[in-house]
Amino acid sequence: MQKTFAIIKPDAVASGYTGAILAEIEKAGFKIKAMRLTRLSKAQAEGFYAVHKERPFFGGLVAFMTEGPVVVLALERENAIQAWRDLMGATNPEKAAEGTIRKKFGANIERNATHGSDAPETAAFELGWFFSGSQLA
Ligand code: RTP
Ligand code: MG
Repeated sequence: MQKTFAIIKPDAVASGYTGAILAEIEKAGFKIKAMRLTRLSKAQAEGFYAVHKERPFFGGLVAFMTEGPVVVLALERENAIQAWRDLMGATNPEKAAEGTIRKKFGANIERNATHGSDAPETAAFELGWFFSGSQLA
């Protein structure tokens, strides 16, 4: 069993897609280990996306991620990190495969509905950024 970290981003929460995305998550066999609705501060979003701080899209990304509430999730499944990336689809919804969450619910390369950890180290960092150890047990 493996854990990964997911966010339902502000665009998807505001559009009323939270329930539909949670249904996709459960249908794909993930167990929701922890979940909360929250609003990221600028400092939280900057810290969370620190790996991208030199990228041209960083300022826009931080503004987007703080514009409204998000749902943060700890998901558990076999091969959870890759399975959640596959279910989300490509970063750019236009390039995402049919049936993926970003294809169904994403608007563009920035406003793309969901986030997922990309490796075991980032999953551990991101889970720890939002949840305490006892919440993940
Ligand atoms: P994420 O981290 O959110 O799961 O997405 P990802 O791995 O598929 O993509 P990544 O390269 O890590 O980018 C993080 C988020 O930044 C926004 N982005 N905007 N305007 C742009 O060219 C651009 N590129 C990326 C997206 O919200 C992307 O998910
Ligand atoms: Mg990423």
